[in-house]
Amino acid sequence: MGAFLFSLCWLALQTVTTASAVPHYFQPQYTRRDLSSSQVSSELGALVSNGTLIYGPAGTLWANATERYNTFAVPDIQVVVQPAQESDIPAIVKYCNTNSIDFFAVNRAHAITASVGKFQGLQIDMASLREITIQPGGETAWFQGGTYDGQVMETLWGEGYVATTGSCSCVGMLGPGLGGGHGRYEGFYGLISDNFVHLNVVLADGQAIRVNSTSHADLFWAMKGAGHNYGIVTSFALKIYPRLVDTWHWHNYIWTQDKLELVTEQINILHGSGSGVTPVEMAIEFGVYMMNDTISETAAILYWTFGYAGSAADGEKALAPFNAIPAEWQDSGDLPYPEISDIQGTGIGGALCTPNTTHVTSTAGLQLYNATAQRQIYELFNEKVQQYPELNRARVVLEGYSTAGVSKIDPASSAFPHRSDHHLTYFDAQLDTGSNLTHVAAQWAKEVVDLWNAGQPTRQPSTYVNYANGFESLESTYGYEPWRLERLRGLKAKYDPQNRFRFYEPIIAE
Ligand SMILES: Cc1cc2nc3c(=O)[nH]c(=O)nc-3n(C[C@H](O)[C@H](O)[C@H](O)COP(=O)(O)OP(=O)(O)OC[C@H]3O[C@@H](n4cnc5c(N)ncnc54)[C@H](O)[C@@H]3O)c2cc1C
Ligand SMILES: *[C@@H]1O[C@H](CO)[C@@H](O)[C@H](O)[C@H]1NC(C)=O
Ligand SMILES: *[C@@H]1O[C@H](CO)[C@@H](O)[C@H](O)[C@H]1NC(C)=O
Ligand SMILES: *[C@@H]1O[C@H](CO)[C@@H](O)[C@H](O)[C@H]1NC(C)=O
Ligand SMILES: *[C@@H]1O[C@H](CO)[C@@H](O)[C@H](O)[C@H]1NC(C)=O
Ligand SMILES: *[C@@H]1O[C@H](CO)[C@@H](O)[C@H](O)[C@H]1NC(C)=O
Ligand SMILES: *[C@@H]1O[C@H](CO)[C@@H](O)[C@H](O)[C@H]1NC(C)=O
Ligand SMILES: *[C@@H]1O[C@H](CO)[C@@H](O)[C@H](O)[C@H]1NC(C)=O
Repeated sequence: MGAFLFSLCWLALQTVTTASAVPHYFQPQYTRRDLSSSQVSSELGALVSNGTLIYGPAGTLWANATERYNTFAVPDIQVVVQPAQESDIPAIVKYCNTNSIDFFAVNRAHAITASVGKFQGLQIDMASLREITIQPGGETAWFQGGTYDGQVMETLWGEGYVATTGSCSCVGMLGPGLGGGHGRYEGFYGLISDNFVHLNVVLADGQAIRVNSTSHADLFWAMKGAGHNYGIVTSFALKIYPRLVDTWHWHNYIWTQDKLELVTEQINILHGSGSGVTPVEMAIEFGVYMMNDTISETAAILYWTFGYAGSAADGEKALAPFNAIPAEWQDSGDLPYPEISDIQGTGIGGALCTPNTTHVTSTAGLQLYNATAQRQIYELFNEKVQQYPELNRARVVLEGYSTAGVSKIDPASSAFPHRSDHHLTYFDAQLDTGSNLTHVAAQWAKEVVDLWNAGQPTRQPSTYVNYANGFESLESTYGYEPWRLERLRGLKAKYDPQNRFRFYEPIIAE
């Protein structure tokens, strides 16, 4: 039976091969409506390197390869291709174009935005492209396009280096990096994208190009903040740095709600009262409003975690104002850097990384916390959970990095438009897949973001592209200065005139 099917596919391949006697550029674009995954497998299989996997829904690897972090809006994947080599990607893209198949790079599948739900077609799965090569001299390293944060933190640390990555071990380097990329080293060295030295890019037409400050410099500018719109990065060179300290200090607290104003005020002071001037070693703090039934079944707790790039003594000095606020629970210690992710709940198996559930989200970039707004958001949280107990896994996340390395870079020098935001916030209502409460959750998400924005009446709404839910304005995401979107649109016309890359917070919607 298998052999019989194979021979049918072989015939199909022969037909295509014969048709190819007409030069490629004279062939019309056509849609092959009933193209099956086995046809793709045999046709494309002949064009890619040995070791490349191509399979449809019947493949044993299918469930894992198509699993998503967020099931709110899932892409309709029809075939998965997992290239064994970077050089396979141009062939895959050209094959897709010839056959009018939409294609889409997937790495760790943690995209949040609903825009991915519009995709139907072939998934280019980056999972085999995970090499990391430190360059002689130790100033840069090469990373393949499928590398991810936890892997990078551990690999580099083991060799005595660190780099800018996202904070969560589970997400890819480029999902975050092409939109900026926030993480624990941004106070020292800036965003992931600020540390790009070179990108190897496959364009929408399948052409492989080299992108850096002297080669396609216009595209390099765009890919540092709006990169998901322009190409597939098969590998990239990123600056790396000597690790400097052997351990980081961490301190986690749980406070009850009566401390909300006090904590909010001290967090603002820690970050220079809106100036964004934070001691650089106080690399990361984030707070979460969430339920914890061992403390209260009706009032959310304030969970807070701090990560300090230095000794316990220095860290605790900076934390003195927080130690003065009586905590319900606390714990602290010192760990090698890669383990800090686990202790802060952002490790690969951590609560924040759990895949395959529905997340209804919203986000706002802030300069300063407004205690009135935070109190309103807190009270709303308790009301909603009381009204809809099924939504008790919701979280309000308030992130504050040290940001010196981000603010010192000229905002016009890249497509990342949010250098004056000092806080990244995130509302996440977690639901079972198929729950009938998505509308309720979406309404809640909107109310929260409206409260955040009302709390900074002199600023316009700000949306970090990688936290966007897909319903925010283009200006809030890519920048209000008219020249930003104009420039990005011009570069779309130049590098992706057919708008093939339109499934992740697209600059040009369908
Ligand atoms: C649990 C969690 C933690 C997070 N933590 C952080 C964080 O610490 N810092 C931060 O900045 N953001 C963070 N984010 C947001 C994160 O940046 C985005 O969700 C990002 O899209 C995830 O990338 P991915 O590789 O995991 O997902 P994917 O869904 O695989 O990729 C997202 C998109 O990136 C594009 N893409 C991926 N790989 C490539 C490539 N090689 N070439 C071209 N395009 C590519 C594709 O358009 C794809 O749709 C987090 C999100 C979640 C859900
Ligand atoms: C492809 O790889 C397999 C397993 O590694 C090997 O057995 C086979 O000979 C290879 N085929 C070619 C054409 O290189
Ligand atoms: C799927 O992923 C799970 C968890 O990561 C793993 O245990 C399992 O072996 C994977 N299955 C396949 C077929 O790869
Ligand atoms: C994801 O969750 C659904 C249930 O909501 C389950 O049927 C499915 O098997 C899960 N997928 C994976 C890859 O675990
Ligand atoms: C930029 O790319 C060009 C063309 O490949 C190359 O010659 C040059 O060395 C690259 N520069 C950097 C900084 O990588
Ligand atoms: C809930 O609070 C207790 C302390 O009372 C703590 O030990 C536990 O880790 C908390 N749970 C979560 C999920 O934060
Ligand atoms: C969701 O479904 C449950 C029954 O499964 C029902 O009791 C509830 O009222 C529904 N909620 C909404 C908002 O539709
Ligand atoms: C704080 O938020 C409240 C509620 O939205 C708003 O009325 C007030 O103007 C805000 N304060 C400042 C200083 O922006």
